[in-house]
Amino acid sequence: MYPRSPLESIKKFHQELVAVRRDLHANPEIGFEEIRTSGIVAGALTALGVEVHRGIGKTGVVGVIKGQRTDSGKMIGLRADMDALPMSEDSVSDYCSRVPGMMHACGHDGHTTILLGTAKYLMQNRNFNGTAVLIFQPAEEGLGGAKAMVDDGLFDKFPCDAIYALHNWPGLPAGVVGINPGPMMAASDKFEITIQGRGGHGAHPYQTIDPIMVAATIVTTLQTIVSRNVHPLEAAVLSFGHINAGSPSAASVIPGQAKLVGTVRTFSDNVQQVVETRMRSLIASIAEGFGATAEFKYVRNYPATVNTALNAHFVADVATDLFGAEKVVRDMTPSMGSEDFSFMLKKVPGAYFRLGQGGAEDGRFLHNPRFDFNDDVIPVGSATFAALIERGMPLQP
Ligand code: NI
Repeated sequence: MYPRSPLESIKKFHQELVAVRRDLHANPEIGFEEIRTSGIVAGALTALGVEVHRGIGKTGVVGVIKGQRTDSGKMIGLRADMDALPMSEDSVSDYCSRVPGMMHACGHDGHTTILLGTAKYLMQNRNFNGTAVLIFQPAEEGLGGAKAMVDDGLFDKFPCDAIYALHNWPGLPAGVVGINPGPMMAASDKFEITIQGRGGHGAHPYQTIDPIMVAATIVTTLQTIVSRNVHPLEAAVLSFGHINAGSPSAASVIPGQAKLVGTVRTFSDNVQQVVETRMRSLIASIAEGFGATAEFKYVRNYPATVNTALNAHFVADVATDLFGAEKVVRDMTPSMGSEDFSFMLKKVPGAYFRLGQGGAEDGRFLHNPRFDFNDDVIPVGSATFAALIERGMPLQP
């Protein structure tokens, strides 16, 4: 077991952390608008005596904590995201969202609080040889706050040897740590297809180039990329989220144009490239075969979140020492969702792990209007982060 577990120390200020979490929950702010939130984070860190850097990635905050010794020259980063979602909360709790149309439905209020708990513990003990970099990131939800911080020189200013992040996970029992030594989350790409045909009378289709027929053929044919072009043991998802052509009040009009919008999810650069290349080829030839033209836009939003095996095993070993083997899942199934911590993992080796919430049974999963972070697991997250610093940069090697 862990010689001196940070868990017991952190539990002593659990209630203080719960109050912070509920205050953040009641006052959600969406991506790059985390003015109040980043102010609270910076204020809390300053009060603890942590060196604070603001304005990295707009509303991002970085706290730097030096260990009792720093001659190892090592630096380890811990990341928490701070943003809420543009959706309304369906809750009667006394700390439910006070901001109409905004809600902490992904538990980033919990992540921010967990990292503040780690900061407090590390400042009280400094049981490590090196520098801990606490990264409070804005705009994880679709706006790429992690990329904004990286582009602002995060790792030039703070050249971390390793980085870690966690995300709460309602599908895991409360307090369980889940990790995988490879992919954790998928790359998220968006595509748009605009088909140009020739409109005309629905009674005389032979005089038209029907873009709806082209669209329908594209929708069904593109699914063969997953089954025929991607290796059966690799993963890819291709989903259409929008299809538009013609007017519901014009039953006998064949429109001139059709538009399709969708998403592609993959775990490896190679599969991502195969899917995009095959889409481009099939869309062009299908359109040409019908005498139409198709414009294809493919945008790579978030890369896949892929753990470095060494760091993932380290997280699992640290969590096992802290909480016992029965509280650690070492082969967590990756999610086809996405996460912008991937931009940081592209620059620095590290690992992203899940922290069980134990609350998905009633459908209150992430992004659900009734989701609420489980305050009971705050010390588990804070202690895991703290132990990654202490064990990653030990005073006595
Ligand atoms: Ni999230």
